[in-house]
Amino acid sequence: MFFPDNEYHVRQLTKADLEQVCAIEKKAYSIPWADKIHADCVESGYPSLVLEQGGAIMGYAIFNYLYDECHLMNIVTDPNFQGLGVASQLIEEMYNYAKQSGMVKVILEVRDSNLVAIEFYHKQGFAEIGLRKNYYKTLKGKEDALVMERPL
Ligand SMILES: CC(C)(COP(=O)(O)OP(=O)(O)OC[C@H]1O[C@@H](n2cnc3c(N)ncnc32)[C@H](O)[C@@H]1OP(=O)(O)O)[C@@H](O)C(=O)NCCC(=O)NCCS
Repeated sequence: MFFPDNEYHVRQLTKADLEQVCAIEKKAYSIPWADKIHADCVESGYPSLVLEQGGAIMGYAIFNYLYDECHLMNIVTDPNFQGLGVASQLIEEMYNYAKQSGMVKVILEVRDSNLVAIEFYHKQGFAEIGLRKNYYKTLKGKEDALVMERPL
């Protein structure tokens, strides 16, 4: 259980976290990222974050900077701890890091069918700015991505 009132911390995602991160990824998605993608993101030095409480990772945000844009590539809360504010804490911390690094906005893509994530992003102040047709694989074919943006 994530306890927002107990001590937790948000820190850089490192190679040592990959096992827990990849396990959460597989629990959270029907089409998860391959472990190698996570390893490559760490290897590439992305400034990604994890939220940890009592030694356990509850969620993570994987993002990168391009020019003055922060690209949020993946944000996940362990399904056992969803709905408790974990992703809200993570994304707030990401805004702080990105602003300190001179970014002026956050951009992301989200599956058209991922209503929970879209609701989460709306609550965070993201607006829909575009659509990428057939961007994602599904178990049956392809689906569109919404492109969303939020100023920092
Ligand atoms: C999207 C996701 C990261 C949200 O994480 P979370 O830690 O549960 O989010 P929070 O508890 O911080 O919720 C913040 C807000 O998001 C929205 N939200 C979260 N879960 C929701 C749900 N099941 N249904 C509707 N809205 C929801 C609500 O607006 C919520 O605010 P509220 O608690 O005041 O109602 C999480 O559902 C997840 O890991 N999903 C699977 C991975 C994924 O799809 N990631 C996004 C890829 S683009």
